[in-house]
Amino acid sequence: MTKTLENLWGKGTEFLGSKYAILGGAMTWVSDHNLVAAISNAGGFGVIACGAMTPDLLTQEIQKTKTLTQKPFGVNLITMHPDMDALVQVCIDEKMSHVVLAGGLPSSNTIKTLKDHGIKVICFAPALVLAKKLLKNGADALVIEGMEAGGHIGPVSTTVLAQEILPEVGDQVPVFIAGGIGRGEAIISYLEMGAAGVQLGTRFVCATECRAHEKFKQAFIRAQARDAITSPQLDPRFPVIPVRGLVNKGVMAFLEHQRKVVDRFNSGEINQKEGQLEIEHFWAGSLRRAVIEGDIENGSVMAGQSVGMVKKEQPVQEIVQELIDQAQGALNKRR
Ligand SMILES: Cc1cc2nc3c(=O)[nH]c(=O)nc-3n(C[C@H](O)[C@H](O)[C@H](O)COP(=O)(O)O)c2cc1C
Repeated sequence: MTKTLENLWGKGTEFLGSKYAILGGAMTWVSDHNLVAAISNAGGFGVIACGAMTPDLLTQEIQKTKTLTQKPFGVNLITMHPDMDALVQVCIDEKMSHVVLAGGLPSSNTIKTLKDHGIKVICFAPALVLAKKLLKNGADALVIEGMEAGGHIGPVSTTVLAQEILPEVGDQVPVFIAGGIGRGEAIISYLEMGAAGVQLGTRFVCATECRAHEKFKQAFIRAQARDAITSPQLDPRFPVIPVRGLVNKGVMAFLEHQRKVVDRFNSGEINQKEGQLEIEHFWAGSLRRAVIEGDIENGSVMAGQSVGMVKKEQPVQEIVQELIDQAQGALNKRR
């Protein structure tokens, strides 16, 4: 049979209810109703980033998105949100079709509650053993996100995760690949390996419909792959949560902050727990500062390595069409 995009990612499009199996990865402060609706209207599958939103705010975002698109879209919830149960209830009340659970292993209870209300649940699988556990707990689909991605990341690359996980579970549930995807040719490769679709974040930040500050977008357009680094850790006694973003003054200040914390710990002024908390608090509010206020020097400019392939601001429709043309071109060459 001749391979077509439609049959290569048929499982993904059927699961999502979208024309293309391209998820617009939820990005806190970035993925609001405008970007999400634009991605869904362009044939992809937009996902609202709940981030630290209150249940009321999430309700508003979902309702605003519904006014902009008739197409399916999802909500991404961070499982350690203090109001997780109320956010789950919002998704139920708003009759969401899909919810993505991110930021740590979701409880089987959360998965069950959502599924009992007919909501399809997508979970992040950072390793094969966890992929199997999530499937046992009822996850309907998985996202495998490698360390090339922007934002919070694990230690393993997309290509390795895909090779480890796809052959084992790729025929059980739809598996979407995220991290480092900037072109359609790469989409085809992962589909041929058994993926049902892909998830892109970085590539959508410079969409015209994206609310990110002009300076945030310009930083993306200027940056090369190597500028998107993981947050550096100074001392193994004080582990740092790995986040990929553009190197800036803030990253340097973070190193200096860690040095001061370690010095105070060594001199007995603070204990381990206090030091760890001080390190974790350093970036509080900093993504908002960069995305919304445009402080790209001191804020957190989360970006994946595919940032090097972001060349200009352009409408979502154009970005999606480029990806589809590249994917189609790659398929044509294989015939
Ligand atoms: C600015 C930014 C914020 C993000 N916020 C979230 C988030 O709130 N929840 C989440 O699950 N993933 C988040 N991500 C990850 C994306 O959803 C997506 O998986 C990732 O960007 C895919 O890799 P790519 O950046 O190489 O395309 C974020 C990524 C970026 C760049």
